[in-house]
Amino acid sequence: MPPSLSIITFLSLLLLPSAVTATTIGVTYIPSPTLPPPEQVLANLLSKKITAVRLPVPDPNIIRAFSYTNISLFLAIPNSLIPSIAANRSAASLWLYDHVIPFYPRAHITAISVGTHVLAQGDVTSADLLVPAIRNVYRSLTDIGIRQITVSTTFSFVNIMTTPFPPSSAEFQQPANNFVIKPLLDLLSETDSSFFVSLYPYSVYKLRPEIPIGFALFQQHAYNFREDTVTGVRYRNLFDLMVDAVIAAMAVAGHENIPVVVAETGWPSYDSNGEVEAQDVYSEMYLQGLVNHVRSGKGTPLRKEGAAEIYIYEMFDTNDTATKGLNSDGAWQNWGFCYPNMSMKFEIDFSNGGSPLMELEDERVTTCLLVLVYFILVLKIRDDLILFFILQ
Ligand SMILES: *[C@@H]1O[C@H](CO)[C@@H](O)[C@H](O)[C@H]1NC(C)=O
Ligand SMILES: *[C@@H]1O[C@H](CO)[C@@H](O)[C@H](O)[C@H]1NC(C)=O
Ligand SMILES: *[C@@H]1O[C@H](CO)[C@@H](O)[C@H](O)[C@H]1NC(C)=O
Ligand SMILES: *[C@@H]1O[C@H](CO)[C@@H](O)[C@H](O)[C@H]1NC(C)=O
Repeated sequence: MPPSLSIITFLSLLLLPSAVTATTIGVTYIPSPTLPPPEQVLANLLSKKITAVRLPVPDPNIIRAFSYTNISLFLAIPNSLIPSIAANRSAASLWLYDHVIPFYPRAHITAISVGTHVLAQGDVTSADLLVPAIRNVYRSLTDIGIRQITVSTTFSFVNIMTTPFPPSSAEFQQPANNFVIKPLLDLLSETDSSFFVSLYPYSVYKLRPEIPIGFALFQQHAYNFREDTVTGVRYRNLFDLMVDAVIAAMAVAGHENIPVVVAETGWPSYDSNGEVEAQDVYSEMYLQGLVNHVRSGKGTPLRKEGAAEIYIYEMFDTNDTATKGLNSDGAWQNWGFCYPNMSMKFEIDFSNGGSPLMELEDERVTTCLLVLVYFILVLKIRDDLILFFILQ
C-alpha cells in the first residue's frame, strides 16, 4: 500500500458521485503586431467552434474585442505584479479596473490566474506571496460583487509533481507543497475555485524513454496502456495519467474535490534542435487525439468529469519554452496549430462529436470492482474498509 494515498481515499475517488459536465476545450492566444487583428482572430475562433480562450497577456483592447461573444476568457496577471498585489489590495483593484470591470459581464471572463509558472523561475520566496496575492484579487472582486470568476495561479506539472508513476502515489514536491500548494488548496476550496496546471505529456515522454510514443499521442492499441502498479487501474494515455497524478496529490493534501483546469497542453510541431517527435504529424495526432478523448466524455479513471477545462497551447507560434520541463539549451519550439495567416497547419475538428456517457458508467463500475477484488484478494481487509463499504 502506498504511504501517500490510502485505499479508502483511492476508492472513494473512484466512487465519488459527481455531476458530469462536459469539459470545455479552449486555446491559448497571444496577440502580436505580426498577427491579424483580434476581430479577425475572433471570427476564426468562432468558425472553429472554439468556446474558450486563454489570454496570458491580457491587453484590454483584446478583452474588449471578446465582448458580446459567448467565448469565455481565462486571463493572467503577470508575475511581476505579484509582490505589489500581495502587499496592497488596491494594486489588485487597479488591475481589475483596467482588465475586468469595464468589460464584465459582456466579456465572459471566467478565470484569473494570478501569475503563471512562478515556481519555474526557481525563486521560491516569490511563491510565498502567491496566496496573499490571490486572496487580494479574490477579495477585490467580491467587494465589487463579482463572485463567478475563479481566481487561482497556474503551476507547471514538472515544477510541482514528484513523479506521475504510479499516479495513485503521486505527491506534490516539497518544499513547495507545504509553503504554497497546501495553503492555496485551502483557499481554493474556501472560494470555490479551481486548480490550474500546465501539463505536457511531451515533456514526460522526453524524460522517460521507456514510454511508447503512442501512449503519449492517444493512439488506441490493445496493448497500449500502463497499469497503476499499486491500484491496478489501467491508463490508456499519458494525459489522463498526469491529470490523475494531480488529483491523487490533491487528495493526499486533503482536497479531492477541487476542479482541475489544464491551463496549457500541446505538442510541438517544430524544434530548432531537430527533435524527431516535434513534427506537424505528431502535433496533429496529439491535438486531435486530445479533442476526441475529451469529447468522448470518458473523463479520467479517478474523475468521471475529467479536467473541467483544457486550453490547447497554442493558436499561433510564440517562443516560450522555459516552463515545459524541456532541456532548452537555447532551443525553441513551435507549438501553434495556425500559421500567422490563420490557415491551419493541419486540420483539427474541435467539434468532434462525443459518445453517450452510459458505457462509461459501466466501465467505471467494472474498474471499481476490479480494484476491490484486487484489494480483497491481496490485502487483509481492514475494519475501516469494511465500514466504508457498509456506509456506501
Ligand atoms: C450566446 O449563447 C446564448 C445561449 O446559448 C444564445 O442565445 C446567444 O445567441 C449567443 N450569443 C452569441 C453572440 O453567440
Ligand atoms: C497601494 O497601491 C496603490 C495603487 O497602486 C498606491 O496608490 C498606494 O500608494 C499603495 N499603498 C501602499 C501602502 O503601498
Ligand atoms: C523564435 O526564435 C527564433 C530564434 O530567435 C526565430 O528564428 C523564430 O523566428 C522565432 N519564432 C517566432 C514564432 O517568433
Ligand atoms: C498561409 O501560410 C502558410 C505558411 O506560410 C502557407 O503555406 C499557406 O499557403 C498560406 N495560406 C493562405 C491561404 O495564404
